[in-house]
Amino acid sequence: MTKVLHRTIAHRYPVAETGNGIVIRDAEGKEYIDASGGAAVSCLGHGHPDVLAAMHAQLDKLAYAHTSFFTTAVAEELGEDLIAHAPAGTSHVYFVSGGSEAIEAALKMARQYFVEIGEPQRRHFIARRQSYHGNTLGALAVGGNEWRRKQFAPLLIETHHVSPCFEYRGKGANETALDYGERLARELEDTLEMLDPKTVIAFVAETVGGATAGAIIPVEGYFRRIREICDRHGILLILDEVMCGMGRTGTLHACEQDGVAPDLMAIAKGLGGGFAPIGAVLVNKRIVDAFANGSGLFQHGHTYLGHPLACAAALAVQKVIRRDNLLDNVKAQGDHLMRRLKERFGNHHHVGDVRGRGLFQAIELVQDRDTKEPFDPKLKLHARIKQEAMARGLMVYPMGGTIDGVRGDHVLLAPPFIVDAQAVDTIVQRLGDAVEAAISSTRT
Ligand SMILES: Cc1ncc(COP(=O)(O)O)c(C=O)c1O
Repeated sequence: MTKVLHRTIAHRYPVAETGNGIVIRDAEGKEYIDASGGAAVSCLGHGHPDVLAAMHAQLDKLAYAHTSFFTTAVAEELGEDLIAHAPAGTSHVYFVSGGSEAIEAALKMARQYFVEIGEPQRRHFIARRQSYHGNTLGALAVGGNEWRRKQFAPLLIETHHVSPCFEYRGKGANETALDYGERLARELEDTLEMLDPKTVIAFVAETVGGATAGAIIPVEGYFRRIREICDRHGILLILDEVMCGMGRTGTLHACEQDGVAPDLMAIAKGLGGGFAPIGAVLVNKRIVDAFANGSGLFQHGHTYLGHPLACAAALAVQKVIRRDNLLDNVKAQGDHLMRRLKERFGNHHHVGDVRGRGLFQAIELVQDRDTKEPFDPKLKLHARIKQEAMARGLMVYPMGGTIDGVRGDHVLLAPPFIVDAQAVDTIVQRLGDAVEAAISSTRT
């Protein structure tokens, strides 16, 4: 009997033993194509020799040095690298060990910023329903997934949630995408007025909604309007690119495609590609200046900040992505994946939407295409699809609660940036078979 408290206690997980390229092999020799990079993590796939070599070299020099005593060459070089390619105005990077930690740090930075500049009355965060920002208490509080928040609600700081930019579910039939974005912007304005904008710290959003809503992409102009509203009221914009960032959508940062730069941005998964746990906050200069000219520090810290081994992994991952022009492949294979998904599911009676950007795509399952009625949540269609996909040697990232935290099912795809057209074809074929098998199993 296992002594590990696994995510689902009764589930028997296969034992992952080796990984090579886009494939993970279990202890019984079965191979799985990793079409979701785990949870959009493994952007270079598994066992990449250049990343492993960089990690070995760092280990031979120094595995760990506490950041209250030292900095390290590798953390400094990674900082230079990330800032050189960061959104406009970003001057510094704060390293942590994952996505939730990055969000926690960003929330605290935002609050401290206003304390430093003499606006301590600012205490509210506004975020979006259906978002996912992590499972620690601060991240869960800004997160908008009802199922994840429910039992912990009494412990969560008060946050205010507005509608996500979810075109398939939210845009009215007679509304243009532009009008829809405008309506969402007005909803933010109304919420600000209700709270008093001078009490608001920040608006928090995933640039492209990932785990809990399934690759929902913002409509044209949405984020520019959001940026404009934040600026007008002196509110910070915190973008969560933990899942959609670091190349996943075809540009290094997803927000490049929306023409905005945030004040704080959380990155993680694709930063280290799963070779080591690492996340970071990219910080705008005016926030760093406020700290530097005020208390002189960011009042925060964890034992493993800037871990040298994690920094070595992340630096190597980022160098490989650039050296091998992998963002070009993300765009090309992203187009190919979208084409294949549309061929396979575009007219499928039980697939209402195929959406995404780059190698970050999803299908949304529906009981009825015309009414967009979802499957009964009790059927747990998403879990059935995952099981059928695993049986066919395919890892995808299905989730339930797409619409409101309870209803709706989607399947997220986030294959490694090294994927080729032939593998994309196999992924879509196996996914198609898994979806058919899962749907038929609901009828028995
Ligand atoms: C958008 C987003 N933010 C934050 C997190 C939390 O990251 P982590 O699981 O590394 O704490 C996730 C994880 O899936 C995520 O998708």
